[in-house]
Amino acid sequence: MTGLRMITRLRAEPLLNPGITTEPIEVMGIQFPNRVGLAAGLDKAGNCISALGAMGFGAIEVGTITPRAQDGNPKPRLFRIREREAIINRMGFNNPGIDAALENITLSRKGFKGVVGINIGKNKVTENSRAIDDYLECFRKAYPVADYIAVNISSPNTAGLRDLQDPEAAEQLLRRLKDEQALMHEEHGRYVPFAVKIAPDIQSGQIKGLTELFNALRMDAVIATNTTISREAVDGLPHSSENGGLSGNPLAEKSTEVIAALHGDLDSSIPIIGVGGIDSVESAAAKIAAGAKLVQVYTGLIYRGPALVRELLAASL
Ligand SMILES: Cc1cc2nc3c(=O)[nH]c(=O)nc-3n(C[C@H](O)[C@H](O)[C@H](O)COP(=O)(O)O)c2cc1C
Repeated sequence: MTGLRMITRLRAEPLLNPGITTEPIEVMGIQFPNRVGLAAGLDKAGNCISALGAMGFGAIEVGTITPRAQDGNPKPRLFRIREREAIINRMGFNNPGIDAALENITLSRKGFKGVVGINIGKNKVTENSRAIDDYLECFRKAYPVADYIAVNISSPNTAGLRDLQDPEAAEQLLRRLKDEQALMHEEHGRYVPFAVKIAPDIQSGQIKGLTELFNALRMDAVIATNTTISREAVDGLPHSSENGGLSGNPLAEKSTEVIAALHGDLDSSIPIIGVGGIDSVESAAAKIAAGAKLVQVYTGLIYRGPALVRELLAASL
């Protein structure tokens, strides 16, 4: 990361300019230069945006950011399962806190012409009964800086976070944020859309409940999916019993299924951003075929490097 940070500081011309022109696409009312974004969790502090953007990404999602800085879980907290091109992580939202992150973002986005999303969450020490306060604080502060905001209620690495996906809790949180969005829209004269990011480990019955809620609230977008707590696909392999969220190839099918289920029930005006195990043109195309308007990558980039982004862009998804 140090190298990337240096590139960002120097504001060098894109080193890895893919030189590929792709069709821009409008999603959430925002013009994206292409469909391929970087998923949350790589640039957790927001200090590498233009350097990462130089790989060709149309969007960079920074975070997850919490109101106050926190260290995350003790190391080791990230494990590669190379046999399956997968990762298990239990980082635990290590981040510099929203104020420092916004300063980083403002500096490091210079020169990046793509879209910047800010992914927000709650501090570990904040009880779920007060989670809304954490999201609200981040939402208000991120609003003037973000192109879009992603509300993360699906990380497995903050105890209780995924309980916010329960219908009642999700409704309380998202309704409150929608109200806040209306106020901020008036105050700033700019509408900043917000997406909700969901886990792959939800039953189809629960997806129905959530899509009804998302439709009723006129959500701006849904990001599907976060990492999985299932170990079915990696059972018996080294590190497979580590706690945390599993990402990469073994997640691909499951997340595509969730996208397809969402697509069946969501109003057609609510776009889906597809993420989970994209490591090739085929796996990205599968997400789009299932109903995703945009895709994001993380683990595929770790194993395949920036060439993956070039391939995806060249395929003009
Ligand atoms: C090391 C690591 C850290 C992550 N941190 C976050 C995070 O802070 N917030 C979040 O919403 N998702 C986070 N994710 C999940 C990714 O954004 C993505 O949803 C997931 O990894 C599935 O995509 P992939 O298979 O392409 O990696 C993280 C993933 C990894 C591997």
